Order: sequence, then structure tokens, then C-alpha cells
Amino acid sequence: MISVIVSSLGILRESKSLNLSEDGKVIDRALFSADKSISLIDRLLTFSRCKKLAPELVEINELLEGLYEVIGFATDEKVKVVLALTDKPLYTYIDPGQLETSIINLCINSSNAIQSNGTIKISTEVNAADRLTIRVEDNGHGMPKNIQGRVFEPFFTGRKKGEGHGLGLSMVYGFVKQSGGSIDLESRVGQGTMISISFSLKQI
Ligand SMILES: Nc1ncnc2c1ncn2[C@@H]1O[C@H](COP(=O)(O)OP(=O)(O)OP(=O)(O)O)[C@@H](O)[C@H]1O
Ligand SMILES: [Mg+2]
Repeated sequence: MISVIVSSLGILRESKSLNLSEDGKVIDRALFSADKSISLIDRLLTFSRCKKLAPELVEINELLEGLYEVIGFATDEKVKVVLALTDKPLYTYIDPGQLETSIINLCINSSNAIQSNGTIKISTEVNAADRLTIRVEDNGHGMPKNIQGRVFEPFFTGRKKGEGHGLGLSMVYGFVKQSGGSIDLESRVGQGTMISISFSLKQI
């Protein structure tokens, strides 16, 4: 339904009979809102586990290296992003697109939590029980305990009105659970936050 709205607005935008300086602005605003709605619906569907995942064999370190540039665009330019990946390749069955969206969501949250210069460290690790872990760590403002218990709830946001939808972490939570993984959060006010997501390692 929304894709019909978007394509109709696109056709209208190209129409020569319009006064583009005035009408163009209205259409651009409508297109922007439609785009935002698509992203919101997408995240809600992932959270509610109604979104169909498309898992495939993915090498996690390669995926993270490929995402590095996009993370740079998505985060504040004052924030340094560091990758600390295992030498060994880490394979798992996962939906690569949803995993990328999840990592970007975690990095945007970290970037928002960093007031001035700070660092986001993305690392990978494998444990004895054949689980692989991806960690996103920051040295931002952290979260008090009462907030930590609520951050995976949909529509919970600690940001100012109009700044956050409170859907990023609920989307990540829904995706990780639907993929048979686990998610952990550690945070200290004034020190930073670490979110780890773990999946079963596929031996190749
Ligand atoms: N790395 C972090 N450091 C400090 N607080 C965080 C961090 N990640 C999440 N939070 C807190 O958890 C809340 C919920 O995060 P979530 O990503 O679900 O929503 P949001 O960032 O507010 O909005 P959205 O992601 O939909 O734009 C945030 O508003 C923030 O208060
Ligand atoms: Mg967020």
C-alpha cells in the first residue's frame, strides 16, 4: 500500500503541470514521511517476529568489514569506529540484511550516547560452546538500571520527544530471538554501554 503511495508521489513529482517550488516541497515532505513509515513498519514487523527472515551462510567478519563505511556515514563524524575481529572466519546461518540493520541500529544508539569525542568498538569472539558473539561497545553516557530493564520494549525511548521512536533495540531483540540467538546488555552511567549478540557457530 505505501509503495503505491510512494510511486504515485514520484509520478506527481515529475509532472510538468506542477508549480515545483511550492508543490515540490509538499511532495518531498510526503515522500520523506512515507519513507519513514516504511522503516517503522519494517522494524515493528521484525520486533513482532512477523517478518520472514531469509537466512543464509554468512561470514560475520567479512559482513562487518563491508559495513564499516556505512557505519561511518550513520554515526557522528566525531565518533571513532574501531573493528576488532577474530583472525579466523566465523560462519553462521543468518539473514545478512537484518543483521546489518541491527548492527547499524546499535551503532547509531552508541553514537547518540556519545556527547563529544568517543569510540565505538565492534568486536567478534568465539567461545568454547561454539557460539559466536558480536559486541558493540561505546564510551558514551551509559544508562541507569531502571532504563536498562526497559530498552528492549517497543516505543521505549530515553531520548527527547520527537528524537527517537524507541524501535531500534526492539527490532534488534526480535531479530536476534527469531534467529535463535541471545542478546546481553551491560551499561554503567558515565562509562558506557556494551551490547552483545550471540549465535551458533557453523563449522565449515
Ligand atoms: N548505547 C547506548 N547508550 C546509552 N543509552 C542507550 C544506548 N542504546 C540505547 N539506549 C537507550 O535505550 C533507548 C531505546 O533505544 P532504541 O534504539 O530502542 O530507541 P531510540 O534510539 O530511542 O529510537 P529509534 O532507534 O527508534 O530511533 C534509547 O532511547 C536510549 O535511551
Ligand atoms: Mg535507536
